[in-house]
Amino acid sequence: MTTKESMHVDPYERTWIIVSVLLLVLFFAAVTVAGLAMGIRVPGPVARVNPNTVAQEGPFAEPGLRELAPGKYEAYVLARTWQYQPRELTVPVGSTVTFFVTSPDVQHGFKIQDTNANMMVIPGQITSLTVHFTRPGEYEYICTEYCGLGHGAMFGKVIVTP
Ligand code: CUA
Repeated sequence: MTTKESMHVDPYERTWIIVSVLLLVLFFAAVTVAGLAMGIRVPGPVARVNPNTVAQEGPFAEPGLRELAPGKYEAYVLARTWQYQPRELTVPVGSTVTFFVTSPDVQHGFKIQDTNANMMVIPGQITSLTVHFTRPGEYEYICTEYCGLGHGAMFGKVIVTP
């Protein structure tokens, strides 16, 4: 004797189960395409630092560009109330720049206009992201986290020369 029990699922519920599974598949596909095909990267914490001393010692004591090889740079940027150090970075077109950003005081943001770089800058942590500059021009970077009175004055720029 075989008994086959089937669970009763209301037709509306069945529809919504199918829709929500399809949504999950769609989101998974979107993240996969963004990461593998479009090269979108999520900024990540690369190290912990002491926010009280980070501006005095190590690479952030002299913020700015380091040329690793032709067209390949590292940029150390200090985001502090209420300015970026340095305020300007100049690289030739075609350069790949890995940004390392940290804050010695409060939480800031670091967004480079017209690029996919947009990160949160947290005291005690170095956040990193790599940007490939394929077109010449001026790319402003701005603070995207409200950090006090001078927040609106917190900006700088990457100059990409032809
Ligand atoms: Cu720094 Cu807003």
